[in-house]
Amino acid sequence: MDQNELKIPQHVAIIMDGNGRWAKKRHMPRTFGHAQGARVLEQTLEDCSDLGVKYLTVYAFSTENWARPFEEVQVIMNLFRDYLISAVDKCNRNNVRCMVIGERSRLSQDIIDSINNLENATKDNTGITFIVAINYGSRDEIVRAVNSISREVQEGNIQPGEITAETIEQYLDTRGIPDPDLLIRTSGEERLSNFLMWQLAYTEFYFTDTAWPDFDKNELLKAFEKYSSRDRRYGKVK
Ligand code: IPE
Ligand code: IPE
Ligand code: MG
Repeated sequence: MDQNELKIPQHVAIIMDGNGRWAKKRHMPRTFGHAQGARVLEQTLEDCSDLGVKYLTVYAFSTENWARPFEEVQVIMNLFRDYLISAVDKCNRNNVRCMVIGERSRLSQDIIDSINNLENATKDNTGITFIVAINYGSRDEIVRAVNSISREVQEGNIQPGEITAETIEQYLDTRGIPDPDLLIRTSGEERLSNFLMWQLAYTEFYFTDTAWPDFDKNELLKAFEKYSSRDRRYGKVK
């Protein structure tokens, strides 16, 4: 495709899937795949930033992933620990604003503190916004939003019957962030697995058989090429 025809999505969302299978194929423990996946994520953030993407949201740990073996959950949490600390300098050097979505109270206190510190330290950066979904589930996010709105109604701050789509958006973890333009899921699975169900209402979907640890700039460009050829009608006639 001619570089001039390539449309760069403003907001890219990624379900980073296939770490475990990738490792197993190499006769390594599943956690080896998560470590490689974390490195690929850092490179993908850089590639998205270089290509002019404004928001990158990645699914790192779902509300359902707690059901995995304890050791695997522990290794993933340790990867978050390391990342959240090293990311402060890296993001500031690269002008990246970092945010975390998901329900935090189930995370360890040191991880919660690192998230708050990273968000705070990078909040004024004006480059790409990098959003990491940790203990995130779309249904959980909507339930929390409904509970918050109910409290506002009870306190008389919102009138029943006056709740609009915009009201609901204000109470989602993604408030203030435009909806994703392109969703990428790696590793051959074609489902949402409880990711951003509200926000993906009009997003273009791209699925690839490539496992997340093998994802690279070439794969990213392939997804952007496919996205560029899509006709986004939003229910209208063109
Ligand atoms: C994605 O890879 C990472 C997380 C869900 C944390 P998986 O761990 O789901 O890898 P597969 O899908 O089992 O291969
Ligand atoms: C979705 O992947 C969650 C993340 C990538 C963090 P899963 O591997 O958990 O999804 P399922 O179980 O295949 O639906
Ligand atoms: Mg998986």
